Amino acid sequence: MRLLVLGSGAREHALVARLAAERDVGEIVAAPGNPGIARLARTLAIDLSDPDAVRALAEREQIDFTIAGPEVPLAAGVADRFHDDGRLLLGPTKAATRLESSKAFAKAFMARHGVPTARFRVCESLDVALDTVRRGEFGLPVVLKADGLAAGKGVVIAADRAAAERAITDAMRERKFGAAGDRIVIEECLSGPEVSFFALCDGVRAVPIGTAQDHKRIFDDDLGPNTGGMGAFAPSPLVGAALDARVMREIVDPVMAGMAEEGCPFRGFLFVGLMLTAGGPKVIEFNVRLGDPETQVVLPLIEEPLLPLLVAAALGSLTASAVRLGTDRLAGVVVASRGYPEASESGQTIAGIDHAEAMQGVAVYHAGTALRDGRLVTAGGRVLTVVGRGATFGEAITRAYAGVGQVSFEGMHYRRDIGRQALRSES
Ligand code: AMP
Ligand code: GLY
Repeated sequence: MRLLVLGSGAREHALVARLAAERDVGEIVAAPGNPGIARLARTLAIDLSDPDAVRALAEREQIDFTIAGPEVPLAAGVADRFHDDGRLLLGPTKAATRLESSKAFAKAFMARHGVPTARFRVCESLDVALDTVRRGEFGLPVVLKADGLAAGKGVVIAADRAAAERAITDAMRERKFGAAGDRIVIEECLSGPEVSFFALCDGVRAVPIGTAQDHKRIFDDDLGPNTGGMGAFAPSPLVGAALDARVMREIVDPVMAGMAEEGCPFRGFLFVGLMLTAGGPKVIEFNVRLGDPETQVVLPLIEEPLLPLLVAAALGSLTASAVRLGTDRLAGVVVASRGYPEASESGQTIAGIDHAEAMQGVAVYHAGTALRDGRLVTAGGRVLTVVGRGATFGEAITRAYAGVGQVSFEGMHYRRDIGRQALRSES
């Protein structure tokens, strides 16, 4: 089977690395890919937000099966275009992508189908939003979210009314997030640990494929601004079999049934961002794709061949009710450029990746890297994910940091506390 993987991050590198090792996988094409992926697949430039360009590439390369990594091509309608042509692709249609691309849709959908989430109000105008905050409907702190895709920057947790009003005017009057902030969701602030829960979905059925915990803030001890994710560990020690079953029963299954009932069945990876509150697991957000860096630590735990599962999901014929997961522990440390997440430096020479990769239980996945005159250089905020694997979190974390210790570039930054919470589950 000839595969096309869309995307260019460490998530896609991990997907390609996994698939390249499997039976029945012929050539893999990655678009646009990155230098790490290029060692395993042929990489081709593409504009992922252009469905016609993606379709033309798949046709030209005689691709049998396409996997969408990021949400951008899905929100642009790549899945719809492929379905029109009878081309096999794993990823939701544009309508089903609204679970991620419109927080207003996701919240209203959850309310319609009884999926547990924070109490909320969708505000279409500045006046209604300001009034909602002034009336103190959701107390303080209060959470404000731009409706549309805002690259992870559209959420503000306001400690007081002035901060809430500022966030509202930034989004709705100053249009800080462009059209993404024309509607906002105001919701109650929940508390509890956060878990990333992943399910593979075929439009009707869904099967859990693993859990992880992400570290979103840039600095140790969860300080500084939010990022795409500075590290992750898997599985989440907070999710045992009972909670896993509860999340499927109370959240994932109702989402599958509700989306089908509303005429937009969900096919692809469903990423449920959960908060484990005193009142049970509640949905903070949905993503219609795998997480980054979660994928880098979740995929290696799947013990069965991945390709047949993904193809079955895309065809609407998943039969497995469970996927066999291994008992190892994984920790992934993101190595970032100076300036991330605001303004990242680029062009610094990267050394030592081959030494890291030669270590037992260590894998390195590329994200913001580029080749310049034969040298590997940084090319973006998150540069690499270095993953350690072991029998315990202690071992996995030690291996990940031993790998990071081999890598160097000017201005490199990483958190030193990835997985620290997981260690507590072992002591
Ligand atoms: P989101 O982009 O919706 O995942 O939000 C980004 C982050 O904001 C989440 O990972 C949470 O840490 C936090 N957050 C979002 N919604 C809430 C909420 N209702 N209560 C508390 N924290 C929240
Ligand atoms: N790590 C969070 C995400 O992929 O959205």
